[in-house]
Amino acid sequence: MNVTLHHGDITRQYADVIVNAANSTLLGGGGVDGAIHRAGGPRILAECRDLRNRRFQAGLPTGEAAVTTAGDLNARWVIHTVGPVHSPTEDRSGQLLSCYTSALRLADELGAGSIAFPAISTGVYRWPMDDAARLATAAVRFTPASVTDRRFVLFDEDALAVFGDALRGTGPDDATIAAGLAAQPVHRWRRLFEVAGDDEPKDLERGDEILALVGALVKDLVFDWRSWIRVTPWVPSGPDLDDAPVADAARLAVAFVQRRRFDDAALRECVRGGALRAIVTRLRRWFEGERGASAR
Ligand code: APR
Repeated sequence: MNVTLHHGDITRQYADVIVNAANSTLLGGGGVDGAIHRAGGPRILAECRDLRNRRFQAGLPTGEAAVTTAGDLNARWVIHTVGPVHSPTEDRSGQLLSCYTSALRLADELGAGSIAFPAISTGVYRWPMDDAARLATAAVRFTPASVTDRRFVLFDEDALAVFGDALRGTGPDDATIAAGLAAQPVHRWRRLFEVAGDDEPKDLERGDEILALVGALVKDLVFDWRSWIRVTPWVPSGPDLDDAPVADAARLAVAFVQRRRFDDAALRECVRGGALRAIVTRLRRWFEGERGASAR
């Protein structure tokens, strides 16, 4: 999976899916919306009207996504999504994340291989670019979906620079994280697995000791864990990480170690919700079967 940044007009992209920063009427507007309808032609609007009549009589809700033809654009589909208007008093970041995750899941259903996103809500809807970029890059990078070619198309240089910083802030890739784990001294790994044993740590004090040992092994992993935990499927459900890359076990460990520093409830959630056991189990499987291949 690849996330790339592009400077320019999203209507000039060649992609399976081009995402529109629409409004709930689905009947066009300015900005990206206006550009897509102008370049894509009347078939897009005709299908938007059909969507309104058949499925969204009250309008497309904020954070949801709907698909139409791409008309004359160099794409197969346009996925329309409605971003939240920024509010200084209400946290609507979940809705903004949902624009990206909903569009990715819909693109998956379509069998799309590539998708191009604008910086949703950062124009008319006044969302601060840096915060929007932080949320958007985490969502697009970490949402599990089979769409492999994921792009942001930024209209101006400033937005491109801000998104570049945000994408770097999402942290190292899976292979780099695994190599960092492999670089940790073997005796630290053996100590962790010795203390953790094979049973479920129900005792918080022992759980805290195990989490601290894990924390020492992932201490070099720096990334925007606050955004990551909002889009990863591993939180807060108390995960089964068996099918996850070992990097996600490390990311989840970092998220709990950081939260634990200022919230005892995080320790209880980690120990009693099953996350700690899942993290240690996945790390042990990697240590016993994948560590050699991870080392650089
Ligand atoms: N290609 C890429 N990005 C673009 C383009 C384009 N052709 N045109 C504008 N942008 C950028 C803007 O600079 C901004 O950073 O897209 C971002 C989103 O801006 P808007 O299009 O205003 O979208 P949004 O803030 O989500 O507001 C949506 O605006 O156009 C209306 O009908 C739309 O009511 C809806 C509202």
